[in-house]
Amino acid sequence: MERLQKYIARCGLASRRQAEEMIREGKVKVNGKVITEMGAQIDPEKDRVAVEGRRLRTKEAQTYILLYKPAGVVTTCQDPQRRKTVLDLLPGKERLFPVGRLDYETEGVLLLTDDGELANRLTHPKYKIPKTYLVETDGLITEEKAAKLAKGIKLEDGLTQPAKVKIEYYSQEGSRFYLTITEGRNRQVRRMCQAIGLNVVYLCRTKMGFLNLNGLALGGHRRLSAQEVKKLKALVGQS
Ligand code: URA
Repeated sequence: MERLQKYIARCGLASRRQAEEMIREGKVKVNGKVITEMGAQIDPEKDRVAVEGRRLRTKEAQTYILLYKPAGVVTTCQDPQRRKTVLDLLPGKERLFPVGRLDYETEGVLLLTDDGELANRLTHPKYKIPKTYLVETDGLITEEKAAKLAKGIKLEDGLTQPAKVKIEYYSQEGSRFYLTITEGRNRQVRRMCQAIGLNVVYLCRTKMGFLNLNGLALGGHRRLSAQEVKKLKALVGQS
Protein backbone atom coordinates (compact mmCIF):
# COMPACT_ATOMS: atom_id res chain seq x y z
CA MET A 1 0.00 0.00 0.00
CA GLU A 2 1.15 3.53 -0.71
CA ARG A 3 -0.05 7.00 0.24
CA LEU A 4 -2.07 8.51 -2.58
CA GLN A 5 -0.04 11.73 -2.86
CA LYS A 6 3.20 9.75 -2.98
CA TYR A 7 1.86 7.55 -5.78
CA ILE A 8 0.78 10.60 -7.83
CA ALA A 9 4.26 12.10 -7.39
CA ARG A 10 5.90 8.82 -8.36
CA CYS A 11 3.92 8.78 -11.59
CA GLY A 12 5.72 12.02 -12.45
CA LEU A 13 2.60 14.16 -12.56
CA ALA A 14 3.39 16.54 -9.74
CA SER A 15 5.45 17.03 -6.61
CA ARG A 16 4.10 15.49 -3.44
CA ARG A 17 2.88 18.89 -2.22
CA GLN A 18 1.14 19.65 -5.54
CA ALA A 19 -0.44 16.20 -5.40
CA GLU A 20 -1.85 17.00 -1.94
CA GLU A 21 -3.33 20.18 -3.38
CA MET A 22 -4.99 18.21 -6.19
CA ILE A 23 -6.47 15.78 -3.68
CA ARG A 24 -7.79 18.64 -1.53
CA GLU A 25 -9.37 20.24 -4.61
CA GLY A 26 -11.24 17.01 -5.39
CA LYS A 27 -9.41 16.40 -8.66
CA VAL A 28 -8.35 12.88 -7.78
CA LYS A 29 -10.44 9.75 -8.19
CA VAL A 30 -9.59 6.27 -6.95
CA ASN A 31 -11.61 3.51 -8.65
CA GLY A 32 -14.02 6.14 -9.91
CA LYS A 33 -14.62 7.76 -6.51
CA VAL A 34 -13.38 11.24 -5.57
CA ILE A 35 -10.99 11.10 -2.62
CA THR A 36 -10.29 14.26 -0.62
CA GLU A 37 -9.04 12.57 2.53
CA MET A 38 -5.31 13.19 2.96
CA GLY A 39 -4.15 9.95 4.56
CA ALA A 40 -5.71 7.70 1.90
CA GLN A 41 -3.71 4.61 0.98
CA ILE A 42 -3.90 2.82 -2.35
CA ASP A 43 -2.65 -0.41 -3.80
CA PRO A 44 -0.67 0.67 -6.89
CA GLU A 45 -1.06 -2.84 -8.37
CA LYS A 46 -4.86 -2.92 -8.18
CA ASP A 47 -6.35 0.54 -7.69
CA ARG A 48 -7.13 2.83 -10.62
CA VAL A 49 -6.11 6.41 -9.93
CA ALA A 50 -7.18 9.29 -12.18
CA VAL A 51 -6.39 13.00 -11.93
CA GLU A 52 -8.87 15.29 -13.70
CA GLY A 53 -10.14 12.25 -15.57
CA ARG A 54 -6.68 11.09 -16.70
CA ARG A 55 -5.63 7.61 -15.61
CA LEU A 56 -2.18 7.49 -14.02
CA ARG A 57 0.47 4.90 -14.60
CA THR A 58 3.81 4.57 -12.88
CA LYS A 59 6.90 5.30 -14.91
CA GLU A 60 8.72 2.30 -16.34
CA ALA A 61 10.37 0.29 -13.59
CA GLN A 62 14.01 1.16 -13.29
CA THR A 63 16.77 -1.40 -13.50
CA TYR A 64 19.53 -1.99 -10.97
CA ILE A 65 22.14 -4.62 -11.75
CA LEU A 66 25.11 -5.68 -9.68
CA LEU A 67 27.99 -6.99 -11.77
CA TYR A 68 31.16 -8.80 -10.68
CA LYS A 69 33.42 -7.09 -13.18
CA PRO A 70 36.38 -9.16 -14.35
CA ALA A 71 39.71 -7.67 -15.49
CA GLY A 72 40.05 -6.94 -19.20
CA VAL A 73 36.73 -5.09 -19.56
CA VAL A 74 36.19 -1.32 -19.78
CA THR A 75 33.71 0.50 -17.54
CA THR A 76 32.02 2.50 -20.31
CA CYS A 77 29.05 1.91 -22.56
CA GLN A 78 31.12 2.19 -25.75
CA ASP A 79 34.83 1.93 -26.28
CA PRO A 80 36.47 3.75 -29.21
CA GLN A 81 39.16 1.04 -29.20
CA ARG A 82 36.42 -1.59 -29.47
CA ARG A 83 37.43 -3.40 -26.30
CA LYS A 84 34.85 -5.42 -24.42
CA THR A 85 32.66 -3.21 -22.20
CA VAL A 86 30.76 -4.01 -19.02
CA LEU A 87 27.49 -3.85 -21.02
CA ASP A 88 28.75 -6.72 -23.19
CA LEU A 89 28.56 -8.90 -20.07
CA LEU A 90 24.80 -8.40 -19.72
CA PRO A 91 22.35 -10.42 -21.80
CA GLY A 92 20.00 -7.66 -23.02
CA LYS A 93 21.29 -4.50 -24.61
CA GLU A 94 19.85 -2.56 -21.72
CA ARG A 95 20.27 1.20 -21.61
CA LEU A 96 22.22 1.19 -18.41
CA PHE A 97 25.22 3.12 -17.27
CA PRO A 98 27.83 2.26 -14.67
CA VAL A 99 27.87 3.94 -11.27
CA GLY A 100 31.47 5.11 -10.94
CA ARG A 101 34.38 3.43 -12.64
CA LEU A 102 36.67 0.47 -12.22
CA ASP A 103 39.91 0.41 -14.21
CA TYR A 104 40.36 -1.99 -17.10
CA GLU A 105 42.46 -4.30 -14.90
CA THR A 106 40.37 -3.94 -11.72
CA GLU A 107 37.79 -6.54 -10.74
CA GLY A 108 34.84 -6.30 -8.41
CA VAL A 109 31.46 -4.86 -7.50
CA LEU A 110 29.97 -2.55 -10.11
CA LEU A 111 26.43 -1.24 -10.08
CA LEU A 112 24.69 -0.49 -13.39
CA THR A 113 21.41 1.38 -13.58
CA ASP A 114 19.19 3.70 -15.60
CA ASP A 115 18.34 5.65 -12.44
CA GLY A 116 20.42 8.77 -13.07
CA GLU A 117 19.44 10.40 -9.79
CA LEU A 118 20.67 7.48 -7.70
CA ALA A 119 23.84 7.12 -9.79
CA ASN A 120 24.69 10.80 -9.28
CA ARG A 121 24.12 10.64 -5.57
CA LEU A 122 26.09 7.43 -5.03
CA THR A 123 29.14 8.93 -6.72
CA HIS A 124 28.84 12.36 -5.07
CA PRO A 125 31.62 12.84 -2.48
CA LYS A 126 29.10 14.41 -0.10
CA TYR A 127 27.56 11.03 0.69
CA LYS A 128 30.90 9.35 1.47
CA ILE A 129 29.79 5.86 0.37
CA PRO A 130 32.50 3.47 1.63
CA LYS A 131 34.16 1.30 -0.99
CA THR A 132 36.39 -1.57 0.08
CA TYR A 133 39.19 -2.89 -2.12
CA LEU A 134 41.23 -6.04 -1.76
CA VAL A 135 44.75 -4.96 -2.69
CA GLU A 136 47.70 -7.20 -3.49
CA THR A 137 51.14 -5.65 -3.84
CA ASP A 138 54.49 -7.12 -4.78
CA GLY A 139 56.17 -5.42 -1.80
CA LEU A 140 55.88 -5.25 1.96
CA ILE A 141 53.16 -3.21 3.63
CA THR A 142 54.60 -2.05 6.92
CA GLU A 143 52.57 -0.68 9.84
CA GLU A 144 53.99 2.70 8.96
CA LYS A 145 52.78 2.53 5.37
CA ALA A 146 49.37 1.30 6.49
CA ALA A 147 49.14 4.27 8.87
CA LYS A 148 49.96 6.64 6.01
CA LEU A 149 47.22 5.16 3.81
CA ALA A 150 44.76 5.50 6.68
CA LYS A 151 45.68 9.06 7.56
CA GLY A 152 45.68 10.49 4.04
CA ILE A 153 48.10 10.60 1.13
CA LYS A 154 49.06 13.73 -0.73
CA LEU A 155 48.26 13.11 -4.41
CA GLU A 156 48.51 15.63 -7.24
CA ASP A 157 44.74 16.25 -6.93
CA GLY A 158 44.91 16.79 -3.15
CA LEU A 159 45.06 14.95 0.15
CA THR A 160 42.99 11.77 0.34
CA GLN A 161 40.28 11.41 2.98
CA PRO A 162 40.92 9.16 6.00
CA ALA A 163 40.73 5.49 5.04
CA LYS A 164 40.65 2.12 6.79
CA VAL A 165 43.33 -0.51 6.31
CA LYS A 166 43.10 -4.16 7.33
CA ILE A 167 46.22 -6.20 6.66
CA GLU A 168 45.62 -9.85 5.77
CA TYR A 169 49.12 -10.93 4.94
CA TYR A 170 52.53 -9.29 4.57
CA SER A 171 56.02 -10.29 3.45
CA GLN A 172 58.92 -8.83 1.45
CA GLU A 173 57.64 -10.74 -1.60
CA GLY A 174 54.09 -9.51 -1.44
CA SER A 175 51.25 -8.29 0.77
CA ARG A 176 47.49 -8.45 0.82
CA PHE A 177 45.21 -5.96 2.58
CA TYR A 178 41.76 -4.37 2.50
CA LEU A 179 41.55 -0.63 1.96
CA THR A 180 38.27 1.20 2.51
CA ILE A 181 37.95 4.67 1.02
CA THR A 182 35.01 7.06 0.76
CA GLU A 183 36.06 8.88 -2.41
CA GLY A 184 36.16 7.72 -6.02
CA ARG A 185 38.98 9.57 -7.71
CA ASN A 186 40.53 8.23 -10.86
CA ARG A 187 42.86 5.25 -10.13
CA GLN A 188 42.83 6.35 -6.51
CA VAL A 189 43.90 3.11 -4.83
CA ARG A 190 46.74 2.50 -7.28
CA ARG A 191 47.97 6.08 -6.90
CA MET A 192 47.77 5.98 -3.09
CA CYS A 193 49.84 2.80 -3.03
CA GLN A 194 52.31 4.06 -5.57
CA ALA A 195 52.86 7.21 -3.51
CA ILE A 196 54.22 5.11 -0.65
CA GLY A 197 56.26 2.81 -2.86
CA LEU A 198 53.82 -0.07 -3.21
CA ASN A 199 53.12 -1.57 -6.61
CA VAL A 200 49.59 -2.99 -6.98
CA VAL A 201 49.51 -6.34 -8.76
CA TYR A 202 45.86 -7.21 -8.11
CA LEU A 203 42.88 -5.00 -7.24
CA CYS A 204 39.31 -6.04 -6.53
CA ARG A 205 36.46 -3.93 -5.14
CA THR A 206 34.80 -6.28 -2.67
CA LYS A 207 32.17 -3.88 -1.31
CA MET A 208 30.30 -0.71 -2.19
CA GLY A 209 28.15 0.42 0.72
CA PHE A 210 26.39 -2.76 1.84
CA LEU A 211 26.65 -4.41 -1.60
CA ASN A 212 29.22 -7.18 -1.89
CA LEU A 213 30.21 -10.04 -4.18
CA ASN A 214 28.43 -12.81 -2.24
CA GLY A 215 26.74 -15.26 -4.58
CA LEU A 216 28.24 -13.77 -7.75
CA ALA A 217 30.72 -15.54 -10.02
CA LEU A 218 33.44 -13.54 -11.77
CA GLY A 219 31.75 -11.90 -14.78
CA GLY A 220 28.30 -12.74 -13.37
CA HIS A 221 25.50 -10.37 -12.40
CA ARG A 222 22.19 -10.19 -10.55
CA ARG A 223 19.32 -7.75 -10.17
CA LEU A 224 19.05 -5.91 -6.89
CA SER A 225 15.97 -6.69 -4.83
CA ALA A 226 13.42 -3.95 -4.15
CA GLN A 227 14.61 -4.01 -0.57
CA GLU A 228 18.23 -3.38 -1.61
CA VAL A 229 17.20 -0.51 -3.91
CA LYS A 230 15.26 1.06 -1.06
CA LYS A 231 18.24 0.68 1.28
CA LEU A 232 20.61 2.21 -1.30
CA LYS A 233 18.30 5.18 -1.80
CA ALA A 234 18.05 5.66 1.95
CA LEU A 235 21.86 5.85 2.14
CA VAL A 236 21.82 8.95 -0.07
CA GLY A 237 18.58 10.54 1.14
CA GLN A 238 16.55 9.67 -1.98
CA SER A 239 12.93 8.78 -1.37
N1 URA B 1 41.11 2.66 -7.47
C1 URA B 1 41.89 2.27 -8.49
O1 URA B 1 43.09 2.53 -8.50
N2 URA B 1 41.31 1.59 -9.49
C2 URA B 1 40.01 1.29 -9.52
O2 URA B 1 39.56 0.66 -10.46
C3 URA B 1 39.22 1.70 -8.45
C4 URA B 1 39.79 2.40 -7.43
